[in-house]
Amino acid sequence: MFKSKDLLGLLHVSAEEISETLNLAHEYKLKIKAGQKKFSDLSGKTLVTLFYENSTRTRTSFELAGKYLGAHEVNISASSSSVQKGESLIDTGKTLAALGTDFIAIRHPMAGAPHLLAKTVGVSVLNGGDGMNEHPTQALLDMLTMHETFGSLKGLKVAILGDIKHSRVAKSNLFGLSKMGAEVWVYAPRTLMPVGFDALGAHIARSREEAIAGANVVMGLRIQLERQSGGLFPSLSEYSRFYGVKDDMLSIAAKGAIIMHPGPVNRGIELTPSLIDGADSRIEDQVTSGLCVRMAALRLIAEYREKNGL
Ligand code: CP
Repeated sequence: MFKSKDLLGLLHVSAEEISETLNLAHEYKLKIKAGQKKFSDLSGKTLVTLFYENSTRTRTSFELAGKYLGAHEVNISASSSSVQKGESLIDTGKTLAALGTDFIAIRHPMAGAPHLLAKTVGVSVLNGGDGMNEHPTQALLDMLTMHETFGSLKGLKVAILGDIKHSRVAKSNLFGLSKMGAEVWVYAPRTLMPVGFDALGAHIARSREEAIAGANVVMGLRIQLERQSGGLFPSLSEYSRFYGVKDDMLSIAAKGAIIMHPGPVNRGIELTPSLIDGADSRIEDQVTSGLCVRMAALRLIAEYREKNGL
């Protein structure tokens, strides 16, 4: 069971909570893969997805997670809600609480927005990505795919290459993987490497080769053009040439290494199409893991709510 009514980030989530989530998500995955899509764990509960930024994977999988678990599920896009009339996040949250909502899965461009919402309403808030801060369910789903591939996260070398500076995925993975005993290596142009990432526990590689050598997981991250003020690298083609992961580079990774990417992928920029679609790729499996991790998180939070009379 989670120790909080909310899932806002992995910074304050324990290794035990991560393990419990991965174990439960794995159980759901076996059932989903066997064709089961009907569960009653969240029967009578209401989940609202409240997205202030675009999403395909996160929003759809939260929606399906709620539906498969038997919850009432409502989807709100900021672009078609009263947010457009100037309603604040807090007032939107209070409105949803007054409508009997139990869970809000939120994505917001401002770091800390889900935390503010969680403090203001009794509804459980699940962070689907807040600005450049965290994306906890993405890191949990990445860890599920890694755990299922290797049997354990302890001792894995995970190389994350790409736009580390703007990436909430890199930060949540660093927090989560470090707690589970994995080593996180990052590589990016200096302009896309945040100051102090090493102090958070990351190994900063000096080259693509140093990051990938002996890695069990090679993860590309999307260049987030929408969060950049410009001038951080000369062009996408130069980025791809000097920082992208190429087919032959897997030869220096550990035997059995896998390719991952949170998506959406800029094909041919962060990873070559043959790596994306090749036998070592786990990118599609990550999407299935996303559904199962979100089901697990919702159920564990529901248990917390039940136990604490919420
Ligand atoms: N990985 C991820 O968050 O994808 P979406 O933006 O499609 O949700």
